[in-house]
Amino acid sequence: MRRLAVVLFCVVVPLTAYAQQARRRSSVAPPLEVGGPIQGLPAPLLTAFGTGLLTFTFDETPATGLGPVYNETSCSKCHNAPAVGGGGTRNVTRFARRINGVFDPMTDLGGTLVQDHAIGGDGDPSVHRFTPETVPASATIVVQRRTTPLFGLGLVDFTTDADLIALAAAEAARGDGVAGRVNITDNIRTGTKTVGRFGWKAQVPSLGQFASDAWLNEMGITSLDFPKENCPQGNCAELAFNPAPHFNALTPVDLQNYMWLLAAPPRGPQSADSLEGEQIFQNIGCTGCHTPTLNSGSSPIAALDHKTYHAYSDFLLHDMGSLGDDLEMGSSTGREMRTAPLWGLRFITRYLHDGRATTLDQAIAAHEGQGAASRDRFTALTADAKNKLLSFLRSL
Ligand code: HEC
Ligand code: HEC
Repeated sequence: MRRLAVVLFCVVVPLTAYAQQARRRSSVAPPLEVGGPIQGLPAPLLTAFGTGLLTFTFDETPATGLGPVYNETSCSKCHNAPAVGGGGTRNVTRFARRINGVFDPMTDLGGTLVQDHAIGGDGDPSVHRFTPETVPASATIVVQRRTTPLFGLGLVDFTTDADLIALAAAEAARGDGVAGRVNITDNIRTGTKTVGRFGWKAQVPSLGQFASDAWLNEMGITSLDFPKENCPQGNCAELAFNPAPHFNALTPVDLQNYMWLLAAPPRGPQSADSLEGEQIFQNIGCTGCHTPTLNSGSSPIAALDHKTYHAYSDFLLHDMGSLGDDLEMGSSTGREMRTAPLWGLRFITRYLHDGRATTLDQAIAAHEGQGAASRDRFTALTADAKNKLLSFLRSL
């Protein structure tokens, strides 16, 4: 019921701000600011973007379904740098264990994602006091995951499974030892296995599914996609005290629209150095995984229909050796990670899946496994060539 109220509210009021911005933009045609919608959208889609933005920034409460355990109260509490819809330095914690090498997600103890907040702690006697989750002592794998930016991901959502499968085959045909694989994941909407592309391990097949997954796992909002509440620390008996046990929402259509329509990060200024740097990036094999150009397939949204885009990723899994986080998600192994897209890299302040790197040099140095050969070629560059490559990365 609350969702319906939100939808009605959005259509009427707050979109005017966006419409006004769009009008200002079209009169002087300034460069698109990061965090805005794709330029030139027709009015109904601009409205859909604004509606979705409201849901994305909406602060959930116990009454609207927050919790019992959760990480933050809205999507934008994590996805906010350098603008709403971006990434962020908020890490989440995941745990699991291996027994004789066999991966165990420890679901019975609340794995793999820790929800580090819980409702009922603010003195409201009508809400049962739940306990935030912690990492159980029996976990053998404990990893951090950094919040990734969402700019431009509509293009990725509409890239076909067939194209990603063909890209993996083309990489294998190169025979240079850096062939990626598609992650085969459970698509809850189609009820089949389809190609994953979102998340650090490409473990989620679509933005719609990611939205309902994040609703449930980061905020405790159940939906038709994921109707069952997370059991706090795996203890399902605790759910008897859940103040909002009904479906909290239907499906996150407006979140999906928002992410579809969120523009790709605009390219930063280029220079003679950055242009030379891009050539070096290619020569030393970075493009073996950080594929400069991909195409979307057909989409009902004209702005996403058969478009060429430059994410600098193949959205495939690569064996990264010790840089892997040891989790298994979808069909990925512990060592495999998705090639991190590099568009918008200039807006990022901490790098790699756990944010361990604070400089681009450190991020490159940490490439192992299939990434080791091009990493070594980077290390062997002259200082001048290195600087040019870095200036290319900073232009993204
Ligand atoms: C507590 C912080 C947090 C909240 C709240 C949160 N996210 Fe995220 N988000 C993350 C992290 C961390 C990742 C990386 C996930 C991974 O692969 O482990 C992520 C990844 C994503 C991705 C994948 C992007 C990519 O690079 O493939 C999407 C899409 C996404 N989030 C959407 C949402 C939406 C929609 C909401 C609100 C319903 C939301 N997130 C709420 C932290 C958060
Ligand atoms: C074998 C595939 C592969 C090759 C080759 C490769 N990378 Fe990567 N790159 C990855 C993966 C996978 C990640 C994400 C690692 C993680 O999970 O932390 C990544 C992450 C990065 C990041 C951090 C991005 C972020 O958002 O945190 C940078 C910067 C980067 N690569 C630059 C380079 C450069 C420069 C080269 C060439 C010297 C290169 N990469 C070669 C696969 C590759």
